Amino acid sequence: MQTSASNFPPCEAARKSQRIGVPREVFPGEKRVATVPEVVEKLIKLGFAVSVESGAGDASNFSDDAYRAAGATIAPNAPALWSGADIVFKVRGPSSEEVGLLREGGTLISFIWPAQNPELMQQLNAKKATVLAIDALPRMLSRAQKMDALTSMAGVTGYRAVIEAANAFGRFFAGQITAAGKVPPAKIFIAGAGVAGLAAIGTAVGLGAIVRANDTRAEVADQVTSMGGEFVGVDYEEEGGGGGGYAKVMSEGFQQAQRAMYAKQAKEVDIIITTALIPGKPAPKLITAEMVKSMKPGSVIVDMAAEQGGNCELTEPGQAVVKYGVTIVGYTDLASRLSKQSSTLYATNLFRLTEELCKTKDGIIDVNMEDDAIRGLTVTKEGNITWPAPAPKVAAPAVAKPAAVAVVAKKAQGHGAASEPMGGSKLAIMFGVAAALFWLIGASAPKEFLSHFTVFVLACFVGYMVVWNVKPALHTPLMSVTNAISSIIAIGALVQISPLAGALDRPNSLITWVAAAAIVLTAINMFGGFAVTQRMLAMFRK
Ligand code: NAI
Repeated sequence: MQTSASNFPPCEAARKSQRIGVPREVFPGEKRVATVPEVVEKLIKLGFAVSVESGAGDASNFSDDAYRAAGATIAPNAPALWSGADIVFKVRGPSSEEVGLLREGGTLISFIWPAQNPELMQQLNAKKATVLAIDALPRMLSRAQKMDALTSMAGVTGYRAVIEAANAFGRFFAGQITAAGKVPPAKIFIAGAGVAGLAAIGTAVGLGAIVRANDTRAEVADQVTSMGGEFVGVDYEEEGGGGGGYAKVMSEGFQQAQRAMYAKQAKEVDIIITTALIPGKPAPKLITAEMVKSMKPGSVIVDMAAEQGGNCELTEPGQAVVKYGVTIVGYTDLASRLSKQSSTLYATNLFRLTEELCKTKDGIIDVNMEDDAIRGLTVTKEGNITWPAPAPKVAAPAVAKPAAVAVVAKKAQGHGAASEPMGGSKLAIMFGVAAALFWLIGASAPKEFLSHFTVFVLACFVGYMVVWNVKPALHTPLMSVTNAISSIIAIGALVQISPLAGALDRPNSLITWVAAAAIVLTAINMFGGFAVTQRMLAMFRK
């Protein structure tokens, strides 16, 4: 067993690997655990020793024995666990008692939500702790995606919200025609199509429901469509992006137009799932009591923003209540309700973070404040509050251009017109240059070249028209089918071994054998390509 670093004087300690401690979550009802046996093995391979509090994984079906078998030691209780750990992995932010157990100068990695918990930040800072808040990760860095616990938890909650809705709803999601009668498909409206909203769309479409969604960010429209949903826009022109892929608080005019659209949807649909959030602000109130009243009896609302105040006026956080005949689910523990799955994803996110912190693989972390991702995560360090971090040096993803807003917004008379003449004149110049080029080629090129060139230009045009209209989600099957079609080169090989080409007069010539091999290989490409395309397309069919 490796010995904890803190038992040694500083110079000696520097050479000892560190111990990661994983306590049992103390927040009422929290079933997740910050690491799982499979990840314990990987942490040990990175050079760390791992301790897990007895019973920490019970609620997620990870027994003490499973952790032991993976190489962890089991601490009998919380004080033993916390006092022996150099680094503590947790899911929820620590309680005051837990902060008391954290070692002076120790390291903690967990959700913290520093903006919402200034008191906790002061307590941790007083302990001179180094705290990495997993919720403060700069998500726009592509390197950060593997550590993005917000995204992995949102995927789980989006899925679970649909399952909760199905549980509270008295009908099938998919339409059915049976001897006992016809069942219409359930209609679901999703408010907010970020990570959780898109996961909910995918799950609901998979269960056979008709899914509609709305978001204030224009770029989301295509994502909704590619998940199989229908994007419903608001009849008002305003860009909803607030930077970094997040939303902003919308103007009163927009909110009014949005309320009118939501009121119409509320009357039509059977289920509403709300996921709308704006970083650092209370959740926008999108579903009014009037809208709830107007829904059909037996309808369901799942308010995923319940913890941040709720998107529905009648939500009671943590509860499922029935109001005006509508079940309103305001659970705040959706990820915990799929604790085995979410613990495994969270543990993997923390492992990826540990890899970044311990590039030397010697079981000692280095909280490198020059690294954009690590700097963003670090909210207190050795007695200093380092949150909020400066914006990372890498540029955030581009905000949707006004042109794209057309999908969600009404075209105001003057606005669209401003860019039209520019586009039109550019197009005219392009056509002029192309016509001049064609005239030059036509006047000077040989006749044989011209016929080939005409076929080439037509092929480019037809290919462009075909590919341009294919939805982005179908680009992979498109590539595989075009790959299969490219096996048309088989014709060249067939010509080479045909009697007309004199192949029978030279049966053993190298060219005949090469052509025969080409036919075999291209046949694999052709039939394999079509088979793969068929399988890919099957994934898109219900
Ligand atoms: P979130 O949980 O903060 O918000 C959920 C959704 O609610 C967002 O799509 C937001 O636009 C929408 N919303 C806010 N106010 C609304 C209103 N009044 N009406 C309707 N919808 C409203 O956001 P989440 O899901 O954590 O991430 C949002 C986006 O951030 C993603 O879609 C993506 O573009 C970006 N992101 C980028 C990542 C990356 O670059 N690696 C990783 C994760 C997210």
